[in-house]
Amino acid sequence: MKFFIDTANLAEIAEANDLGVLDGVTTNPSLMAKEGIKGKDNIFAHYVKICNMVQGDVSAEVIATDYQGIIAEGEELASLHENIVVKVPMIKDGIKAIRYFSEKGIKTNCTLVFSAGQALLAAKAGATYVSPFIGRLDDVSTDGLALIEQIVTIYDNYGFETKVLAASIRHVMHLVQCAEIGADVATCPLNVITGLLRHPLTDIGLEKFLADHKKVNS
Ligand code: E4P
Repeated sequence: MKFFIDTANLAEIAEANDLGVLDGVTTNPSLMAKEGIKGKDNIFAHYVKICNMVQGDVSAEVIATDYQGIIAEGEELASLHENIVVKVPMIKDGIKAIRYFSEKGIKTNCTLVFSAGQALLAAKAGATYVSPFIGRLDDVSTDGLALIEQIVTIYDNYGFETKVLAASIRHVMHLVQCAEIGADVATCPLNVITGLLRHPLTDIGLEKFLADHKKVNS
């Protein structure tokens, strides 16, 4: 399973990248706004900075919601860097645009996916990635991980090439369970990636090893 980081914060991207386990980045308009990045030129420059930091796909989301607008914005975004993946919302014009981009060889990430039917449609349109939002489903008493399982089954049944990119991951167990289910990619905040490191028995064990070593070596 590939690890993407879900942030537009350059320091967090650098930290995850330094671990040597980062395969890509996803952003969205809220994450860009959180970093205070505004204005088309600054936004585009920020995407290029991210692309130059990480070896892997970087999702950049369109703001337009009409077909022509999505095409124009997506083509501009894709021309910024070869690693840009155009993130397109799961709406009617978005699906049409994903079909267009797919025929042009432009990579896409169909975002805001909350049902298996939507994921099926995204795959039929030729999306490179589909992003089901686990955490936001859990927030409304719906099993987000069950959706990942359903989509993986459907894609396997028909050999769809669209990659399942589990999104809106809130904690380490989401990440581990996505791996069990067979999601292709998980995008998560830095604290979830670094959370994988933690186990109290590791800390206790290391402390004892070092103490025992010190006893005979000092
Ligand atoms: C997906 O690509 C989104 O950027 C993201 O995972 C949404 O997560 P949130 O529900 O924590 O905002």
